[in-house]
Amino acid sequence: MDRWRGVRSTVLIMIICTLHGYSAGSAQQKRNPNDKPKLQFHDRKLLNPKLNTGKVDPQALVNDSLILTYHNGPLLAGGTAKLYLILYGNWSSTQREIVYDFISSIGAHDVPSPSVASWWSLTKGYTDTAGSIVTEAMEVGGEMYDSTYSLGSYLRVIDIENLVLSSLHPNGVFPTNHHAVYVVLTSPDVKVQDFCKSQCASHFATKPLDATDGRQLIYTWIGNAVDQCPKKCIWPFAPAEFGDAAPALIPPNGDAGIDGMIINIAVMLSGAATNPFNSGYYQGDGGAPLEAATACAGIFGKGAYPGHPGDVLVDQSTGASFNAHGVNGRKYLLPALWNPLDLQCTPPQNV
Ligand SMILES: *[C@@H]1O[C@H](CO)[C@@H](O)[C@H](O)[C@H]1NC(C)=O
Ligand SMILES: *[C@@H]1O[C@H](CO)[C@@H](O)[C@H](O)[C@H]1NC(C)=O
Repeated sequence: MDRWRGVRSTVLIMIICTLHGYSAGSAQQKRNPNDKPKLQFHDRKLLNPKLNTGKVDPQALVNDSLILTYHNGPLLAGGTAKLYLILYGNWSSTQREIVYDFISSIGAHDVPSPSVASWWSLTKGYTDTAGSIVTEAMEVGGEMYDSTYSLGSYLRVIDIENLVLSSLHPNGVFPTNHHAVYVVLTSPDVKVQDFCKSQCASHFATKPLDATDGRQLIYTWIGNAVDQCPKKCIWPFAPAEFGDAAPALIPPNGDAGIDGMIINIAVMLSGAATNPFNSGYYQGDGGAPLEAATACAGIFGKGAYPGHPGDVLVDQSTGASFNAHGVNGRKYLLPALWNPLDLQCTPPQNV
């Protein structure tokens, strides 16, 4: 097996996670058998299938003992990281703008609180061996709109890496940049291997190739699940799959598919920044690590419990639910992140 195929963290669905728990998985990472997680998996309850049918414990999603251990590897640290977007399939200009505004919001502190930027600031506690913190902002470094479905309307996992590699100079439009994430976003009609079966999104690192200057590039894929599996991948903008779950929330940008995709983009960017090569911050087995956001799955506000996202803000004019303000008057619903400074899962909050 090619060891450089190693890095692959996934938003797995898993049957036991239909409460919209995310879990991260790493399929092929070679592990040092001595590299045991320092703490046991204290948030098992989150993944306990019994929760899906039985009574829920309002405390079950928040556990003070949750610790993501740092494994001494590199993070996506410092400055402003570039995101190179590959929009694959059929995208409207409005959908594209919702994504662009989200990315611009990550470093934009001059918007009303709670802001996307204050949410991202929760990553400040993630430092590398040199004491550098995770990148403080992100910006679009370039875009490739693949409206011709160049690799067809079914993508295998390896096709996603091939899309990224073919987007690089000299044949493609993007530079090789190690302080960046290459982001493949697929439209609702694009089928992707394992999409909706076991995952909603994944982040990876490439093999080290000549085209990547002999190093690994960080990349991620997120699918628009609105037609294929809304209950699995865009909750709470679709009803949850189980139990007495609350009705779907109204999406803040009027597009359940894209607003749900933003949640998964947020999950992936936080995972890619804090655990880009599966040697950063995670808890549990490297084969199924919990990362910054996947460790806090299903939490969008205070008082969250399985099937219920917690207290979020409501736009009085549209009835839409959100928990973070962005640029251009945008509103977004973002996942809680685990904060290394207080060891808590923290949703966006007023600062
Ligand atoms: C958190 O995990 C610990 C260790 O497994 C457990 O003893 C404790 O009850 C849990 N707390 C909550 C609030 O679930
Ligand atoms: C793209 O999506 C729009 C909106 O869903 C749809 O009306 C249009 O027919 C699609 N275009 C193609 C080429 O599939």
